[in-house]
Amino acid sequence: MVDPVIIVGGGVIGLATGFELLRAGIPTTILDRNRAGRGTSWLAAGMLAPDTEIGFEELELYDLNRESLRRWPEFATAVEAASGRDVDYRDDGTLIVADDPDSTKRIRRLYEFQKEQGLDVDWLTGDEARDREPFVGPRVSAAIWVESDHQVDNRLLLDALREAFLAEGGTLREDTPVERIHPDDEAPAVVTEEGEQIQGRDVVIAAGVWSRQLDGLAPAAPPPVRPVKGQMIQLRMKLPFDLQHVIRGPDAYLAPKSNGRLVIGATSEEMGFDTEVTAGGLYDLLEGAWEIVPGVYDLAVDDTWAGLRPASRDHAPIVGRSGAPGVIVATGHYRHGILLSPVTAQEVTRLVQTGETSRWIEPFSPARFSGPIPESTA
Ligand code: GLY
Repeated sequence: MVDPVIIVGGGVIGLATGFELLRAGIPTTILDRNRAGRGTSWLAAGMLAPDTEIGFEELELYDLNRESLRRWPEFATAVEAASGRDVDYRDDGTLIVADDPDSTKRIRRLYEFQKEQGLDVDWLTGDEARDREPFVGPRVSAAIWVESDHQVDNRLLLDALREAFLAEGGTLREDTPVERIHPDDEAPAVVTEEGEQIQGRDVVIAAGVWSRQLDGLAPAAPPPVRPVKGQMIQLRMKLPFDLQHVIRGPDAYLAPKSNGRLVIGATSEEMGFDTEVTAGGLYDLLEGAWEIVPGVYDLAVDDTWAGLRPASRDHAPIVGRSGAPGVIVATGHYRHGILLSPVTAQEVTRLVQTGETSRWIEPFSPARFSGPIPESTA
């Protein structure tokens, strides 16, 4: 029997990679420390927003984000077909709004940069923004309209991906934390906390913020990933409140889902693995949301939580062969895990299948943190 690829971590990156490997005919086992799809990715907002989130110094990452968005519709269709579930892919566009002179100056600078990069964005007055989205409040005096940015319901996606992975014949081992990796050119393996050793043809580390805690990766260093805490709040939309677009303000974003979830985020805090939800965090989010979309005031609160974004040292993902034989890394997706799932999954599948590090993932190699990859494992 052919050894499967072993994926450590059943978040959006692990599940999507498993799904793509199976679609390519490669047997795959995913090990998750809890239940697959219930970690960081479950706590995200599901925005697919390369143009909104373009960074002044991050054009390589922008290209990757953009490419992944290009692949998203086909990926969503494939996941829906395999799982029989809807993922609520929405292409309604995004409004970036400003509500005072400082925020107007900031988004004007962003708009000019977006234009310089050739993005298809429009500058709107406050009234023009309200014409597009009537729930934008009277304080909003300027906006950027980003038609090309989309969203998905990350929770529906994760349930669908888990189902799709199983439907394609994948093996899913939940409640199975991995403690150690045994790198090897021929037969790399993982060792679970229970001491079980599981051998694969390759091992893929997709463990998000927990990637750094895996032992045994020498001669490679553990992926340098740290948690960045994001507190969020979920409201329940109720008519006549019927927000249709993602709205990004100076202090909060709002992402409305078709089933009535309204996800508001997010703080950005260097607090290690702390996931406490604080009064101050929620206060800032609610005030930031209310200032730009005042109708949130009357909505019921469904839930609050804090997620941990897996951030690398340069805030770009870490994807590719590590210096440890037989070990591939796919982690550090920080704010873009849901967006980057198709391109990561497909390019890791290509790497497993052909040995080729494609031009899409080459700039994001783990080698940038640990020096060149030894000849024997390149
Ligand atoms: N991508 C949204 C966030 O990180 O809050």
